[in-house]
Amino acid sequence: MQNFEQFLQDHLPTSKSIHPHYESALQNMLQAGGKRFRPALLLGVVKAYNPLMLESAYHAAYAIELLHTYSLIHDDLPAMDDSPLRRGHPTLHITYDEVTAILVGDALNTYAFEVLSTAPFSDETKVKLIYELAHNGGLNGMVLGQAIDCHFENQPLKLEDIKTLHTNKTAKLIAASLKMGALIVGRTEEAEKLYDFGIDLGLLFQIQDDILDVTQSSQEAGKLTNNDEDKNSFVTILGLEVALREADALAQSLTETMESFDESLQRELSPILTKYINRHKNEGKK
Ligand code: IPE
Ligand code: IPE
Ligand code: MG
Ligand code: MG
Ligand code: MG
Repeated sequence: MQNFEQFLQDHLPTSKSIHPHYESALQNMLQAGGKRFRPALLLGVVKAYNPLMLESAYHAAYAIELLHTYSLIHDDLPAMDDSPLRRGHPTLHITYDEVTAILVGDALNTYAFEVLSTAPFSDETKVKLIYELAHNGGLNGMVLGQAIDCHFENQPLKLEDIKTLHTNKTAKLIAASLKMGALIVGRTEEAEKLYDFGIDLGLLFQIQDDILDVTQSSQEAGKLTNNDEDKNSFVTILGLEVALREADALAQSLTETMESFDESLQRELSPILTKYINRHKNEGKK
């Protein structure tokens, strides 16, 4: 991922103006790091099927990271989760002000599509990628999930509705990352299979995130933890023990599905997946 980080540095959003901190605020959360889980998934799929396209694929991986970073900036706003810490750094509304955080989120969201539209793919591929990112990250994807998440604070939902919430909030963008990788290399059949796999992977990722909210300190997580008490998080609703068991079951079934993948796909994805599929293990013992 070192080359991807370099790509990101080389393509940071820039804006020269009379505004004293707009440009640094645009770059701040991107440079703060993060796991780059979604880019790694997309790039893993591209590397498995056509390593020659890896450099071009950085554009698409970056677009997803831009949209994801915008979602985090807005997620931390006082009106949403009200968090002062993200990726080990003060959030933008703390460093600057709320207006800056809102507008930087807006800017990164649209910049994601600018990056995709100028990527070195055929027009046909670009339209497909733009559609996937908008469809999964937007009004019937991540944004819907966030709307449900915030609206139903302090109102416990049924497990089925909680799954819908988290599928939209988190899983669809993770599934889109895998699918976009497959679309870049022209593997339409694999694209659908990877999308379905990605939905389960995304659910696991969110269950783990909810587990870490109660097991990790803010310092360990690099973000405010113990912040989900009012939420329909898996842990708030199911309790830690059941959430851990649910995560184990999903991890097991994802591992089995992965074993049915093409050899090259397994080779590229298994190092990333093994790292994340198991990240909740041992958390219950703390
Ligand atoms: C956090 O995402 C929000 C969720 C969807 C759980 P990540 O855990 O991928 O955050 P970064 O990108 O590493 O900061
Ligand atoms: C947010 O979920 C998911 C997004 C779409 C940003 P959380 O609110 O649980 O994410 P964290 O724990 O703040 O990273
Ligand atoms: Mg949230
Ligand atoms: Mg949050
Ligand atoms: Mg969380």
